[in-house]
Amino acid sequence: MNHKPGLFISFEGGEGSGKSTQIRCLEKWFRDQGKDVVVTREPGGSPGAEEIRNLLLTGDPGRWDAVTEALLMFASRRDHVERTIRPALANGKVVLCDRFADSSVAYQGYGHGLGADYIRNLWKLAIGDFKPDLTLIFDLPIELGLERAGTRFANVSAAEDRFERMGLEFHQRLRDGFKEIAGNQKDRCKVIDASGDLETVTERVVSVVQGHLAGQGG
Ligand code: TYD
Repeated sequence: MNHKPGLFISFEGGEGSGKSTQIRCLEKWFRDQGKDVVVTREPGGSPGAEEIRNLLLTGDPGRWDAVTEALLMFASRRDHVERTIRPALANGKVVLCDRFADSSVAYQGYGHGLGADYIRNLWKLAIGDFKPDLTLIFDLPIELGLERAGTRFANVSAAEDRFERMGLEFHQRLRDGFKEIAGNQKDRCKVIDASGDLETVTERVVSVVQGHLAGQGG
């Protein structure tokens, strides 16, 4: 695989899909097996990328046009890859990342209409062929996801809600986009049915990860 000795897994999906909770469950699963795990997120994940995150997630929904937003995403991603992810993988760690470049394809490519090819070109320019070993795409009907996210944001983080406020059609395009991404890259991307309770979804996640590891010979 391209990242040996480490393992790079990204978690993708729309709002309120529960992926952040599932990351913590998978972190525990790996730690219980004695693995070193780094949990990180995008946008963000390194000091510079976290500063860019603040620019991206606060303020008016129209604060950035789609191209600027995409460029900021990839600026933060490059910093994150070079300073956090690659060094961890080189040390043999498991890296669990809450969103990665497929989010740019879905949000900026499909959601904001820049197109998947445009984003894949930026991907190549910014970080070359670098990609996760495995990508878990959490899928949920959008009404349910936004309802979950709404509850969460009402309680937790009122400020970082720029993307949650973008409207139903946008979120439908996202969901369709993620499905297309998964359909085009069946080896790397696995869709996880995110409906159901926490334990059920965790079982689905673990089974997909075990399948991946078995395919890698360990
Ligand atoms: P975050 O608060 O981390 O939310 P979530 O729990 O949904 O991951 O916010 C990240 C937001 O940024 C999220 O709405 C998706 C968006 N985003 C993009 O539009 N493009 C990207 O490339 C990434 C990484 C995130």
